[in-house]
Amino acid sequence: MDRIQVEHVSKRYVLGERSNTAGELVTSALRRLTTRRARSPQRELWSLRDVTFRVSEGESLGIVGRNGAGKSTILKILTRITSPTDGVARTRGRVAALLEVGTGFHPELTGRENVYLNGAILGMTRRDIARRFDSIVEFAGTERFLDTPVKRYSSGMYLRLAFAVAAHLEPDILVVDEILAVGDAEFQRKCLGRMEEAGREGRTIVYVSHDLDSLRSVCSRAMWLEAGRVRDEGATAEVVREYLRSGLSSADSGTSLLQAGPLTVTSVEAGPAHAPGTSVVMQEDVTRVTVCFTLQERIPGLDLAINLTSSKGVRVLDQALSDSEHRQLEAGDYAMSLEIPPVLNVDTYAVGVWFGTSHVDLIDEPAVTSFTLHGSDRGRPGRVLVTDFPLSVERV
Ligand SMILES: Nc1ncnc2c1ncn2[C@@H]1O[C@H](COP(=O)(O)OP(=O)(O)OP(=O)(O)O)[C@@H](O)[C@H]1O
Ligand SMILES: [Mg+2]
Repeated sequence: MDRIQVEHVSKRYVLGERSNTAGELVTSALRRLTTRRARSPQRELWSLRDVTFRVSEGESLGIVGRNGAGKSTILKILTRITSPTDGVARTRGRVAALLEVGTGFHPELTGRENVYLNGAILGMTRRDIARRFDSIVEFAGTERFLDTPVKRYSSGMYLRLAFAVAAHLEPDILVVDEILAVGDAEFQRKCLGRMEEAGREGRTIVYVSHDLDSLRSVCSRAMWLEAGRVRDEGATAEVVREYLRSGLSSADSGTSLLQAGPLTVTSVEAGPAHAPGTSVVMQEDVTRVTVCFTLQERIPGLDLAINLTSSKGVRVLDQALSDSEHRQLEAGDYAMSLEIPPVLNVDTYAVGVWFGTSHVDLIDEPAVTSFTLHGSDRGRPGRVLVTDFPLSVERV
């Protein structure tokens, strides 16, 4: 029996219309009335194009693809958070989902109330929920905060409870988007274990992750999305191998070409230094950023730099070749690498490149690609650096 049937689904976003609240619909309708061309084509974005797949009962499907490939969009369609522009998506049975932090829970309600609310949404009786309540709380490890509104939870606590709820309320279909993004390594392992168990219990799972190892352990089948289309589908090991081989997996590698006169940037990649070609960088890994470029001719005084910007827009690092050595590059192909020791907090970082001389900026692109440091913020999401400087306290 098919639990999920997705047929020829396409999804179009009109940029600038981020969500469909009543107020925004009115604004966009007005905007459409006041601008001459109703919908200029460049303001539209097809997040999914003619996507078709099925998942049968007890099967687990993994979805891989670069940033922006449409993975989360598929999950939002399956969970009815958004609807397809074309095509149909059918699900049979109760769907529980763990999507980006911010969905699923009511911020004003306490942890306890949210467990009951989620159970009710899944169509469970009060008694059914009560029966599972303890195992949910135990799994989440959030006993102390049960009567605190979830809006006061740290992102890690929120995720723990959200995952525990989704995984223990016995859904027919479990939908999980990138659980590695938050939570510590131990909790991540627990989540993966629980997902494997859910699979053995015969639940249908759809799991999106950039962590290909976890995908291999949870899913028997995988689908590779590229720019909103299904590029490949089949046994997980094979799809993952093809995906890796395509070279597109290394930490959201951007192959976007930048050019200025005799200078061409051919690739910018970021990933763990110890495992080239893979994409998942843990907080405790050394991150390597590699920029490949070609110089058609010598540019006098040419200097080059790599910079990083945090998700909050903080320029956390900016290092130029001239900071370490000054050298004239002759015409040729080059690879510039920067190794970043494990000092940054978990976050998503934009990788930027700069080429220029003391007189002129030739290329100044602050976000050519990005990478995410996974792991735990150890309860301190606000800090940029994870340091272990000597700290002492003495009575004076
Ligand atoms: N509400 C929205 N309004 C406009 N565009 C959107 C919206 N949601 C997603 N998009 C766009 O749709 C495309 C697919 O996004 P989606 O979030 O599905 O990607 P993804 O594969 O989950 O990426 P990631 O690996 O970064 O999570 C992206 O170009 C994104 O910018
Ligand atoms: Mg996503």
